[in-house]
Amino acid sequence: MTADKPFFVTTPIYYVNDTPHLGHAYPTVAADALARFMRLDGRRVMFLTGTDEHGQKVERSAQALGLTPQQFADQVSASFREMDRLLDISYDDYIRTTEARHIRGVQALWRELERRGEIYLGRFAGWYCVRDEAFYEESELVDGKAPTGAEVEWLEEKNYFFRLSSWQDRLLAWYEANPEAIAPRSRRNEVVSFVRAGLNDLSISRTSFSWGIPVPGNPKHVIYVWLDALTNYITALGYPETESPDYSTFWPDVLHVVGKDILRFHAVYWPAFLMAAGLEPPRRIFAHGWWTVEGEKMSKSLGNGIPPDVLVERYGVDPARYFLLRELPFGSDGDFSHRAVVGRLNGDLANDFGNLAQRVLVMINRECRARVPEPGAFLAADTELLGRARGLLAAVRGHISEQAFHMALEAIWRVVAEANRYVDEQAPWVLRRSDPMRMKTVLYTLAETIRRLAILIQPFVPGAAAKLLDQLGVPEAARSFATIESAPLLPGALLPVPEGIFPRYVEARAE
Ligand code: MSP
Repeated sequence: MTADKPFFVTTPIYYVNDTPHLGHAYPTVAADALARFMRLDGRRVMFLTGTDEHGQKVERSAQALGLTPQQFADQVSASFREMDRLLDISYDDYIRTTEARHIRGVQALWRELERRGEIYLGRFAGWYCVRDEAFYEESELVDGKAPTGAEVEWLEEKNYFFRLSSWQDRLLAWYEANPEAIAPRSRRNEVVSFVRAGLNDLSISRTSFSWGIPVPGNPKHVIYVWLDALTNYITALGYPETESPDYSTFWPDVLHVVGKDILRFHAVYWPAFLMAAGLEPPRRIFAHGWWTVEGEKMSKSLGNGIPPDVLVERYGVDPARYFLLRELPFGSDGDFSHRAVVGRLNGDLANDFGNLAQRVLVMINRECRARVPEPGAFLAADTELLGRARGLLAAVRGHISEQAFHMALEAIWRVVAEANRYVDEQAPWVLRRSDPMRMKTVLYTLAETIRRLAILIQPFVPGAAAKLLDQLGVPEAARSFATIESAPLLPGALLPVPEGIFPRYVEARAE
């Protein structure tokens, strides 16, 4: 049984040198759907998101605007919170790396690594890429640039190093013993090959700028932004107090949702840091793909990133969430095009689900004096449809446990299609005259199917689902997954006037 089992889900913490756009909305919406799903499934959930505020990149962006890095970080961090509000994100904690609780935790982790002999002072000479906040080997450069296409600069500094090279075998053993720890499979294989090829020690401090967490005992150095940032996942749980209620409940039962571009930091450095400090590595890391917009890479210079307010104003929050989760397998790359969004919105949402609910609720309103009809004896077609809706939870749970959102939604929408077929076949508008008793049974079967579907879509389209459950008269306390079985609609209950939940998208006409 999964009930009560803790579930900790995280998004990457976002750099404050960029304003929020579709690429940030994506992992956040995915993590939110997971958090909501697990809460409805009776699990104890901690959903963490936040902002990554230190490092050279942020220092430079602030300088360019004539702000202190802290002022700059305050402004941009607030805009990420605003993104969360707009997208109906149900996070439990929001961490900022400039918070005292985080700084204290990172310094404690540093001291622990030092105490265990995992850190030494050495000399670094090599390539650094400020945009990626990453070190690159000469052999990784492509035409003198980082593999991501960003500029690199030569760096020579006295730095502290982490003995990453000595963790190669233990990392490989961990991947081997935990085949599900890194997903999807193809990305896991890439990580394993990278580590198999050998690891160098990692430079983990900098002296040429100051916007960071000071190295304990040597404040001329600041801690490398990735060591700082990754640690947010445990400082938010109360680390270094490993006995704290949150740490002891949720670590290491975590799922880190990350983009494919930052998988190496999460699947190589992060477990190595943790194991080196005597802590458990994370349970699972899922690397999602990247979106292009109308076939183009998102970029600041093209200004095509789609800010969350535009996304929500244009399509509505639920349709935007639905599209992001339904359109692609979570590990794949794909394109965000207006045409594709409108297709899903008018097809899956407005025509398939929205019309089904509207037709049924309007008929109940008109033909049953707005009360849940009393069903007569169920026929095979009725029990079959009700049975399909009953079996869905197990299927959806299976897909969600593998972060296969598109499969979960596909499974739900298959039952929506069956319900539509059933309405057409049973034609309750004909039964209205020919067999009013049978009409009531059919409408009951449909309303009860819609209730089950509405409960299941809550994690993905929470606003629309809540509206639909209100219209079905389902009280807040009867919306968890357990109620799919235990709390069917009560005949006789009075229902409010129905209102569409998924309006059609109508193109604004060119003037
Ligand atoms: N600050 C680091 C993460 C530290 S986590 C301990 C960082 N921040 S970021 O703001 O640059 O990127 C955050 C996430 O946004 C990444 O996971 C990245 O994959 C995602 N995306 C940014 N653009 C994207 C797309 N175009 N498509 C999908 N996701 C993209 O990296």
